[in-house]
Amino acid sequence: MILTDVKVPFVDLSWQHQPIQQLIERAIQQVIERGDFILGKALTEFETAFARACGVKYAVGVSSGTDAIALGLQACGIGKGDEVLIPANTFIATVIGVIQAGATPILVDCQPDTALIDLEAAANAITPKTRAILPVHLYGQMVSPQQLLDFANIYNLIIFEDAAQAHLAQREGYIAGSVGLAAGFSFYPSKNLGCFGSGGIVTTDDEGVAQKVRSLRNYGAPLKYFHTEIGTNSRLDTIQAAILKVKLPFLSEWNQARNQAAEQYYHNLKPLQSQGITLLENRAGSGHVYHLYVIRLSQPLASQREKIQQYLHAEGIQTGIHYPVPCHLQPAYRYLGYQPGDFPMAESLCEQILSLPMYPGLENDRIELVSEKLLQFITKY
Ligand SMILES: Cc1ncc(COP(=O)(O)O)c(C=O)c1O
Repeated sequence: MILTDVKVPFVDLSWQHQPIQQLIERAIQQVIERGDFILGKALTEFETAFARACGVKYAVGVSSGTDAIALGLQACGIGKGDEVLIPANTFIATVIGVIQAGATPILVDCQPDTALIDLEAAANAITPKTRAILPVHLYGQMVSPQQLLDFANIYNLIIFEDAAQAHLAQREGYIAGSVGLAAGFSFYPSKNLGCFGSGGIVTTDDEGVAQKVRSLRNYGAPLKYFHTEIGTNSRLDTIQAAILKVKLPFLSEWNQARNQAAEQYYHNLKPLQSQGITLLENRAGSGHVYHLYVIRLSQPLASQREKIQQYLHAEGIQTGIHYPVPCHLQPAYRYLGYQPGDFPMAESLCEQILSLPMYPGLENDRIELVSEKLLQFITKY
């Protein structure tokens, strides 16, 4: 599909970047002047600032959110022979991270009203090999920290959070990335906190875990040229860290702007429930950071999802689906042995969800347009 006139883009990063462009350019310039491109000063400074923002002692920058999960799990002692519980409805990187750590992902269904992992289903999936639960704070809403901690306590499991979509999200007094033994974040450009390429970070309160990630990301060498384990090359570039360090102080404000946009969507779309539009439950209040604004379509509207997207597209409105196929039905992971029907909630959500434009700076009149065109489709068809 080619769009000549985008009226409401799915994401627009210029609102974030334009006002701070000079600060970012200056920060990049300073890295160039210092020449410390690998493991440089701005990386250490950003790691300290990000750890403080998340309320943990340590943060270790790596080259992607996927590696944050893979190396973070390894640093927590998870590997071959271990099973890790994860939701079936997540971005595939969660699965990849577990597999790259050498462990086996055990998929679990989700709750239909929040799309977050169903802890009762997780309890039923526990075996003697289960070592960890990896909750995904999907779309920007944290999985209940209290329930997670109780769950991990009962079954004696490690919690490793996938906080790739939940920078500075809060719930029950906890900040995302501070609930478990460790957590992984992504700085993919469109994330709530994004860099200008690929990047990620592991947060933890455990000094040993932090040290292990530092070693793993740097060829498994806690000391230069002394390799105590098989590591990899997965550092967060100093230039990316310098950019992130400039952006971090604005993150709360940007998350608030996302919340305001979500409130307006709620106001406009909540009345459309009887017409087939259901909103996902927000149990975190203003602690939800709305990385994505996802609605559910009930039948018969759900079967017209593609048509709705095309209709909105023709009106200049971009939409997305996060995600169209649950992890267990992706061809690459058939070997895990799951079948269609194994996770009914995740499977039906995949058919019903629709992501509407969401980014800080999304103007009221654009949200009005999206809401109006959605309603127009419903009344027309
Ligand atoms: C839930 C989730 N986990 C993990 C990742 C992986 O992050 P990255 O793309 O930085 O590897 C992403 C984002 O892409 C994500 O949305």
